[in-house]
Amino acid sequence: MKPGKVVGCNRVAGGCEFRCENAVASVTFAGKGVVRVRAAPGEGFEPDFSWAVVRNEPSGGTFSVERTRERVVLKAREVSVAVEMKPFHVSFYGPGGTLLNSDAEGGGVSWSGRKIRCRKEMPADERYFGFGEKAFHLDRRGKRMVNWNTDAALHTWNSDPLYQSIPFFIGVGRGRAYGIFFDNSWKSFFDMGASSRRYYTFGAEGGEMNYYFIHAPGAKEILERYTWLTGRMPLPPLWALGYHQSRYSYKDEGSVRRVAARMRALGFPCDVIHLDIHYMDDFRVFTWHPERFPRPEKLLTELRAGGFRVVTIVDPGVKRDTGYRVFREGLESGYFLKKRDGTLFYGYVWPGETAFPDFSRADVRRWWGEQHRELTGRGVAGIWNDMNEPSENIKPHARRVSTRRVVHYDGGRYTPHAKNRNVYGLQECRATREGLLRLRPDERPFVLTRAGYAGIQRYAAAWTGDNSSTFRHLRLSIPMLLNMGLSGAPFVGADIGGFTGNCSPELYARWVQLGAFYPFCRTHTAILSRPQEPWSFGRRVAGIARKYISLRYRLLPYIYTLFREAAWTGTPVLRALFMEFPWDEACVGIEDELMVGSSILLAPVLKRGARRRRVYLPAGADWVDFETLERRAGGVTITADAPLHRMPIFVRAGAIIPTQAHVRCADEITMNPLVVEVYPAAFNAAGGGRSVFTLYEDDGATMKYEEGVFCTTAMECRRRRGGVRFTLHRRKGVYHPGARVCELVFRGVDKPLEVRLNGEPLEEETGGADGAGEGRWWYEREGKVLRAAFTDRGERVDVDAGFRG
Ligand code: GLC
Repeated sequence: MKPGKVVGCNRVAGGCEFRCENAVASVTFAGKGVVRVRAAPGEGFEPDFSWAVVRNEPSGGTFSVERTRERVVLKAREVSVAVEMKPFHVSFYGPGGTLLNSDAEGGGVSWSGRKIRCRKEMPADERYFGFGEKAFHLDRRGKRMVNWNTDAALHTWNSDPLYQSIPFFIGVGRGRAYGIFFDNSWKSFFDMGASSRRYYTFGAEGGEMNYYFIHAPGAKEILERYTWLTGRMPLPPLWALGYHQSRYSYKDEGSVRRVAARMRALGFPCDVIHLDIHYMDDFRVFTWHPERFPRPEKLLTELRAGGFRVVTIVDPGVKRDTGYRVFREGLESGYFLKKRDGTLFYGYVWPGETAFPDFSRADVRRWWGEQHRELTGRGVAGIWNDMNEPSENIKPHARRVSTRRVVHYDGGRYTPHAKNRNVYGLQECRATREGLLRLRPDERPFVLTRAGYAGIQRYAAAWTGDNSSTFRHLRLSIPMLLNMGLSGAPFVGADIGGFTGNCSPELYARWVQLGAFYPFCRTHTAILSRPQEPWSFGRRVAGIARKYISLRYRLLPYIYTLFREAAWTGTPVLRALFMEFPWDEACVGIEDELMVGSSILLAPVLKRGARRRRVYLPAGADWVDFETLERRAGGVTITADAPLHRMPIFVRAGAIIPTQAHVRCADEITMNPLVVEVYPAAFNAAGGGRSVFTLYEDDGATMKYEEGVFCTTAMECRRRRGGVRFTLHRRKGVYHPGARVCELVFRGVDKPLEVRLNGEPLEEETGGADGAGEGRWWYEREGKVLRAAFTDRGERVDVDAGFRG
């Protein structure tokens, strides 16, 4: 069934409502460049509610409505919508009148029983990105994808669905880009040309046709608007950006202590150790195993003194055991999911028979949050929410369990599981984050999740679940994580080394090289797999792991600033090449290279035995090999050497990358000296050769940044004829890092004739000193490195290096 002809049109807040022969529909401006389309059969809409959207009031600014017999056109600055009347049919146009997207001829919205769908034109040049967590290639054109949160153990390329559902995508074609967020929590699908060459279709098994059309010039701006709508990642604590070590499981205090001690003894920076299910008493959540972990406070205090934090796993399934407080409380208060007939729903998870809290209820979320006292009270730093799709029927316990009759409170409407499953993990993470904030109001929570829905970035970081220790999975992690970022979720990672199976030394080396740049950086492995601590693969691989994990820590000032950018604008930390180089067609679809922010390009080695690889260097920039400092103009494919100890990394010329000295964990970070790596661009008479980076700093731990307690420092590099000028602009903001040494490191420059600091000549260090002393400069011919150091008090500083000619 289709809406049919429009028989009436009224102005409503933000737009128009259309009465059609068989349906009602509305088109409203929800925000800048954001249009909402709703349609429901019959006379009225369902009550308006979303778990994902944080802005419910129309705020699209001014718009006009033009009506003719055939159509109604709603015009706003950023996007216009033309609604044809006979029959109801929607098209979107950009500011210049360019057609962005339109319902298919004879397509658009339709119903079949409870099922809904919307069919749209699919231009030949359009590519599709986003769609949350999927095991497909970067560009999803031609794919059919299902959204239904699933415990996808043993998934591989093309397995679908996986753990998370984010029904959002970005369409990119020549000269146009848009996003569509289909805000429907039922089992849903996107058919992006799998069953037709001319159309794509999305739909769901129930609920309303309710989607947001987002227009902006490019993917970054679309994400800014999408995350305006569904919320952004709050800043994580700095320690959570460090290296995490995990396995299923470190089974007792002794093994945890040994891992911590070896990390330090062998010089691997590390901040976090994860405790998987064996820390619990018979897998009862919010308990400790009395023999294995007899004194958790003592353990956690000692680890903390050594700079380690502990994250514990928490599964939603509560063991059925009337002798167990959490179960009893949940039972007595009626907090668990029930079936339509009022009996409790039990599934089978690690502890055997389990009940599941109904996180759609605010009181249940509060109660669940409160349970974390048992963990935080003993010093647990963060929470790892697993099995929250929810996984309800696992081996070895598996029985015939069906969720068909399960109902969720859902605002008192007791709606079916099918409507609530995809938001179950989202609501659990919300309960966890809010609980942690109540227990420790001054500390930024860290929550890690496996399941999620649109908006999950507001509550938790995510990892991609049970991958395998194979090169194919290493490769798969790139399109997966890039598309998560393109779905609003920037704090993501895959298990380094792979979860299932035995990782080879070579694979671990290649994985840690890439994984050191995953926003969420953790090694984890399954219960029967060989050890996967970074020293487990022999000295050579240990050295490689140390090198790359240390590099991550050195880059934390840069990476933390990228996190802040993600928290403020939704731009992901890891970026597909096409996001940074939208003008370069060759970048679209590249999924074996990626950007960390806009300055660092990674070309990881993804093939067993490979010791070199082809690397495409995007056009419109010059590139500097991070290790050899060799320079090349972009727009070419090169062959890069990649011996096992080396992952090719390229820095975009002009880059300014703030770094810090070697540290073993976040506690040791002082940002003194602040080491600023500068890769000056070539002189360009046309006015190029200027670049800027704005460093973000705050206390890295508390919520004060939300009240504005942070500072930013703009850094600028200008290439001139015969010289280069670096300016550290005056620091802005109310957070004060204190006076410190700033060490400038210019890479790939000739030896200067002189170096001036605020116009005064600096002395050249000619002794055998290692690097430059404060107020001096130093040149290393090998690598063409110029260093200069000075005291940074937050005031403007100009450093000029003058060259011959
Ligand atoms: C699930 C998780 C995995 C964890 C295991 C035991 O398989 O995905 O990370 O180690 O459960 O808790």
